[in-house]
Amino acid sequence: MAAASRDAPPAPVRRLDYRPPAFLVDAIDLRFDLDPERTRVIASFTFRRNPAAGADPIAPLALDGEQQHDVAVALDGVALPAERYRLTERTLVVVDPPERGELTVSSTIHPAANVALEGLYVSSGVFCTQCEAEGFRRITYFPDRPDVLSVYTVTLVADRERYPVLLSNGNRVGAGDAGNGRHFVRWHDPFPKPSYLFALVAGNLAALTDSFTTASGRRVALEIWSTPANLDRCGHAMRSLKRAMRWDEERFGREYDLDTFMIFCADDFNMGAMENKGLNIFNSRLVLARPDTATDDDYLAIEGVVGHEYFHNWSGNRVTCRDWFQLSLKEGLTVFRDQEFSSDMNSRAVERIAAVTFLRSAQFAEDAGPMAHPVRPDEYIEINNFYTTTVYEKGAEVIRMQHALLSPERFRDGIDLYFARHDGEAVTCDDFVQALQDASGVDLGQFRRWYSQAGTPIVRARGTPPTPGQPHKEPFHIPLATGLLDAAGADLPLTLEGEPGPGPTTRVLSLTERRASFVFTGIGARPVPSLNRGFSAPVRMETDCTDADLAFLAANDSDPVNRWEAAQRIYCASVFAAMQAAAAGAPLPDDPAIGGLIAGIVADERADPALRALAINPPDFAYLAGLASTIDVDAMVAAREHVVRSVARAGRDALLRCYESLRVQEPHAPTPAQVGARLLANRCLRYLCALDDPAAIALATAQFDAADNMTDAIAALVAVNHTASPSREALFARFEARWRDEPLVLDKWFALQATAMRADTLARVRSLLGHPRFNARNPNRIRSLVASFALANWPAFHSTDGEGYAFVAEQTIALDRVNPQVAAVLAGAFNQWRRHAQPRRSLQERALERIGDTPGLSPDVAEIVARNLAGYQ
Ligand code: PHE
Ligand code: ZN
Repeated sequence: MAAASRDAPPAPVRRLDYRPPAFLVDAIDLRFDLDPERTRVIASFTFRRNPAAGADPIAPLALDGEQQHDVAVALDGVALPAERYRLTERTLVVVDPPERGELTVSSTIHPAANVALEGLYVSSGVFCTQCEAEGFRRITYFPDRPDVLSVYTVTLVADRERYPVLLSNGNRVGAGDAGNGRHFVRWHDPFPKPSYLFALVAGNLAALTDSFTTASGRRVALEIWSTPANLDRCGHAMRSLKRAMRWDEERFGREYDLDTFMIFCADDFNMGAMENKGLNIFNSRLVLARPDTATDDDYLAIEGVVGHEYFHNWSGNRVTCRDWFQLSLKEGLTVFRDQEFSSDMNSRAVERIAAVTFLRSAQFAEDAGPMAHPVRPDEYIEINNFYTTTVYEKGAEVIRMQHALLSPERFRDGIDLYFARHDGEAVTCDDFVQALQDASGVDLGQFRRWYSQAGTPIVRARGTPPTPGQPHKEPFHIPLATGLLDAAGADLPLTLEGEPGPGPTTRVLSLTERRASFVFTGIGARPVPSLNRGFSAPVRMETDCTDADLAFLAANDSDPVNRWEAAQRIYCASVFAAMQAAAAGAPLPDDPAIGGLIAGIVADERADPALRALAINPPDFAYLAGLASTIDVDAMVAAREHVVRSVARAGRDALLRCYESLRVQEPHAPTPAQVGARLLANRCLRYLCALDDPAAIALATAQFDAADNMTDAIAALVAVNHTASPSREALFARFEARWRDEPLVLDKWFALQATAMRADTLARVRSLLGHPRFNARNPNRIRSLVASFALANWPAFHSTDGEGYAFVAEQTIALDRVNPQVAAVLAGAFNQWRRHAQPRRSLQERALERIGDTPGLSPDVAEIVARNLAGYQ
């Protein structure tokens, strides 16, 4: 009954249906008469039939457009009579078009009413745009697809007083008075680009300015635009930008190409940031930072994302995607580039461990659920749903593996060839791999399967588990970096049978078959293997390492990623042992293996504090859930908490000593040494507070009182977040009083309350929806309060009374009417429902059905629900 009344989701778009555009647009002239209530847009562009379109020489000139009003059309300057074009809800089709001509389309749009934040909208009184992937069609009629590249000239007209600053892509080529208190500014971008890279910004803004001289000696003006009150928080983004520009020259030989590079920081933004040509638009949370308002993690994220968007200027803008199935062409490559940038600016090992942790928690789960798709997907209903960890983070791993298979030098040759061969083109993932292969001579034929097959391979025991629509899998080409340790913990030279020795101590073994064996010569006693060093391939490893081997690797492996991995495996094994006891109703083991190991790591003062902090970090619920065959939330939560408390008890003295010795005394600076010390000290504090010991909670309060920076202040709240102590309430109240009027800071406070493992959390979250500073239209507020509850609070979201599920279903439905893109993120909280034990499985299924039965659902949410409720193997 429920299923029958559900609206069918729109038909999917398929990769194999790609056809080249029937018409090309070489140049477009856009004029905006900006008004929040009704903005008039006049778009004039030259079109010509695409000689490469082939098959269909009489295809009409079809333009995409949505939410366009008062439309008028002219061809070569003459108004087009009604019978010469057809308007539907989503298209404008010119009947019998000439081979070439100039089309002028005028229309009216309503930016202030645009709450979906796609197209032209108003954020804190400032006009701004978001066009990727298909937002340009909400601005005007146009062939809104990435393989139509045009040169843009843009004239912005607006009230001079309310909107003194008018920005668009490229170079400013004119400005003047427009009468009636209005003014205009004209911009020209000489680089042909797809419509998704168009941007405009208009408002009362101020800029932090600087400049950068490129390797070839050109001076580029740098501007970060924001509301005047925020200028003192733009310095870190500016320093990050200059570092990114220099790094891309040195590491990839890529120079910036316009005279100006601008960043605008928007309060309302669905995603992290956007690489519009010459005018990046950022979510303000990824620009604004001052030591008292932003944590060390915020500083690192800003550096990484500023780099990421800047790097897109080549990987994405100069060479772009032919169609949206190729999204990873630009995103996987650009994530790889930003990860390398962050590794060169900070600690490579810390950066790698953070990337591996994220990949295994988020992407492995995606690959194991109904949203599983290849790095290059085969079909989608709503492309917004495919900005995923598979396309981004697994896409970056796929680039990283090619880097390993080719060697850094050959990889650089390949990238150089790719940019030279395809500059100014819209291309495919295959074109990318072909360039690497042609430049290096390395055969990447089998490797291409990483783009087409979904799923996480398991190395050693079994094959890759099936994913929806792909029951059979062919073997991947897997580069497995391998080492062998001798009894003293030293790396052995790895010499393959038949080779002259001695070989290198880490070897990248190429696995191409379902089974492979490698025989090394000259190895005496049984060595301990260190497999998948540096996480060279995004696979699940199953090895026959004993507990003693793991402890040995945790202490001795020369590869820092595998040292960390060994400690994590021991941690997971302790949690699983406790989980089995919990599920069987038996008493939980009192002395889990991990306790002594962690006390030892904490006490090892010679080791890097940041790496020690990562090594003692408990595995998160998402990762643990991925290791289980069926998810039993109660057993998992009980077991993890039990092991964390055991570690805190076993390591108490060491944790306290470490905490006291590491407290940073100097004034705050975001230097690696301070960041590492804060990370480890705050991790120790968290363990100490896990026992609800009043002395530990007093330490957290004292830290909060003394903190001169947000990292330590927030860490104090994190440490007491789950306790029942009255000090918790006091600290949260003080934090709120201090930061009430700073939305980005208050977001941290919302998120902590939403992730608290406390019985009253859902009631608290419901009441915070009515907090005077909560705003249900702002994506950052929703992500902090509602999405953190849904995606990061396992005990509360999965509460067995079904209240958490009902709440998230209700919020998804309400938000879908406002902002479908963010509503789809909330709906994704149910993606693992089939893996849960009863009653949670049925309760989640019911919540999904309830969402699915809502009339008028967006394609975004409808696609997530449909994939979840469809049967799959
Ligand atoms: N292309 C952006 C990035 O990764 C992400 C984005 C996608 C932003 C869609 C907005 C909308 O850098
Ligand atoms: Zn990107």
